[in-house]
Amino acid sequence: MKKIIITIDGYSSCGKSTLAKALAAQLNYVFIDSGAMYRAITLYFLRNHVDWNKPKEVVKALGNITLEFIYSQETDISEIHLNDENVEWLIRDMVVAENVSGVASVKEVREFAVAQQQKMGDTKGIVMDGRDIGTTVFPNAELKIFLTADPAVRVERRFKELIQKNPHITIEEIKSNLETRDYIDSHREFSPLRKAHDAVVLDNSNLTMKEQLKIALKLVKERLEVEEEIA
Ligand code: DC
Repeated sequence: MKKIIITIDGYSSCGKSTLAKALAAQLNYVFIDSGAMYRAITLYFLRNHVDWNKPKEVVKALGNITLEFIYSQETDISEIHLNDENVEWLIRDMVVAENVSGVASVKEVREFAVAQQQKMGDTKGIVMDGRDIGTTVFPNAELKIFLTADPAVRVERRFKELIQKNPHITIEEIKSNLETRDYIDSHREFSPLRKAHDAVVLDNSNLTMKEQLKIALKLVKERLEVEEEIA
């Protein structure tokens, strides 16, 4: 059967990666968490004291960064490796979350990440989630989903996820981080977060994972039927 490209964009903590991962598993597609790339770059910049407001420093640093997604049987996802180090868990740290939107606003960083993301779509059969996947990375993707959820629901979800790793984290800290990131992500100059004109909006505030997956799979089926008709 013909394979397509599926993009899932939206604000922070809408459950984009969870849906993308489930969808990829059902379809036997590759799931790529594009945010992990911006997070890994941020981790490198923080560790190496790179000033991301200085383009020359940024370009030099990017030249020393290799990013790779390697499938892990244990977690059943492709985990991100930064210069051969598995950083899948380290990049979820609050210090990375606090700086990633700034780093992701830098033109050179975006060009670096987008070029690699586009390559990953060469063979189709991919579900990629992020902020600009349906607008900039794959403007011709066959299925684009714009996922949204009520802000209070998003804060609650992130809290439940982070409290396991960091028992001192507060709801206020998470709320403030999500609001700041959403603001920077949607107001930056290059590839701001916005809904692609041809994206389908899916509000999952009151949906279970099973329910949203069912809706998404129905959309995939419809798109595949269109593709078969065209072929
Ligand atoms: O999806 P996430 O929360 O892991 O993403 C981390 C940050 O990376 C997010 O605040 C914005 C940035 N990002 C981006 O600018 N473009 C993408 N395609 C994905 C993420």
